[in-house]
Amino acid sequence: MRDEGMAIQYQCDEVSNILGKSEKIREICRLIGVVAKTKATVLVQGESGTGKELVANAIHAHSLRANKPFIKVNCAALSDTLLESELFGHRKGSFTGAFESRKGRFELADGGTILLDEIGNMSFPGQAKLLRVLQEDEIVPVGVSTPIKVDVRVIATTNVMLKKASENGAFREDLYYRLSVVTIFLPPLRERKEDIPILVNRFIQLDNCRANRKIKKVSNEAMDILVSYNWPGNIRELKNVIENAVIMESTDTIQVSSLPHYLLTENRQKTIPPEHEFNLKMQLKTYERQLILKALNKANWVKTRASKLLGIDQRNLSYFIKKHHILDPEERRRARGSLSSSSSIDSMK
Ligand SMILES: Nc1ncnc2c1ncn2[C@@H]1O[C@H](COP(=O)(O)OP(=O)(O)OP(=O)(O)O)[C@@H](O)[C@H]1O
Ligand SMILES: [Mg+2]
Repeated sequence: MRDEGMAIQYQCDEVSNILGKSEKIREICRLIGVVAKTKATVLVQGESGTGKELVANAIHAHSLRANKPFIKVNCAALSDTLLESELFGHRKGSFTGAFESRKGRFELADGGTILLDEIGNMSFPGQAKLLRVLQEDEIVPVGVSTPIKVDVRVIATTNVMLKKASENGAFREDLYYRLSVVTIFLPPLRERKEDIPILVNRFIQLDNCRANRKIKKVSNEAMDILVSYNWPGNIRELKNVIENAVIMESTDTIQVSSLPHYLLTENRQKTIPPEHEFNLKMQLKTYERQLILKALNKANWVKTRASKLLGIDQRNLSYFIKKHHILDPEERRRARGSLSSSSSIDSMK
C-alpha cells in the first residue's frame, strides 16, 4: 500500500468522531462507553490539542443524558467576580448591575452534563464553591439563601497534571479527589503514531469538502514526514497542517512541497519503516542523530560542552549537526514561523 501512496481511507467511531486504531485510543473509547452510562465525575487529562473536549462530547453523547443540556464553561476565562454568578446564577438586585435574575450554568445543565474546561486555572475561591456542589448536589445562587438541588454530571478537563498541582498546593486536594473519580489520560500524538495516517486521511476528506478540493492521496515521502514529526501541538496542529496542505497542493496527491517547512527542519525523531528494521546503516544513522541531540540538550546547546560529552572535537560536532540537519532552539523557532510551499525533502537526506 505504501509504495503507491496512502489512499484516502479512515476508521472512525461514528458517534463520537474519535479516530484512531492504536491500543491507547481503543482503550479510551472502551472507557468512554463504560463511564458514559454512569453519573461518575470524569477528569479528562492531556496535553493541549489531544482531544479532551472531543472525549467530553463523546461521554455526553453516549450517556443517558444525551438529549439533555450539555453546558460548557471555560474556567480559565472566568474572573473571580464573574465565576460565582456564572456558575450558580444570581437574584435580581443581589449586586450592582444585577438588573435581572439569571440562572447559572449548573442550573442550565440540570438533568444533563456540565463541562468545566481548563479546571486547573480555576481560582481558589471558585474551587471551594465547586467542591460544595460536588459534595451536596446543590447550588446557592448569589443573593439567595436557600440552596437549589441540581442533578448534573460533571466532566472536567485539564492540561496540567492536577495531581501534582494538588500536591504542590496549587489546586485543592479534596477537589482533585472529587473530580478524578474516573480519570481519562489522553496520550500525546507522538505516543500513538499509528493513528497519524488515519487522522490525516480523515482530515483530508473533511477539507476536500470544505475547500472544494479533490485530493486523493498522500505521497509516501509526505506521509513519512507527517508520521515522524513530534507534534507538540498534537491533533490540533496536525489538523491545521492538513488544512493548509489541502489548500496549497495543486495535484491530487499531497506532496512534501505542500507541507510547512518546519516539519522538515524540526528535530524530529526519524522512525524507521518496519521493512528496514534490520538495516544496520539506517539504525546507526538514527542512533547517531539521537545521541548528538541528547548531548546538545544536556549541554544546553553549548557546543564545547556537548563535544566533550561525545568525545569528539568541535569541528566534528559541527559536521554531525550539519549532516543530520539539527537546528538549535532559536533556529527551530524561526523555522516554525515560516510556512513554505517549495521545500524539498532532499534537503533532509
Ligand atoms: N481522536 C481524534 N479523532 C479525530 N479528531 C480529533 C481527535 N482528537 C482530537 N481531534 C480534533 O483535534 C482538535 C483538538 O481537539 P480538542 O479541542 O478536543 O483538544 P483539547 O485537548 O480540548 O485541546 P486544548 O487543551 O487546547 O483545549 C479538534 O478539532 C478535534 O476535533
Ligand atoms: Mg479543550
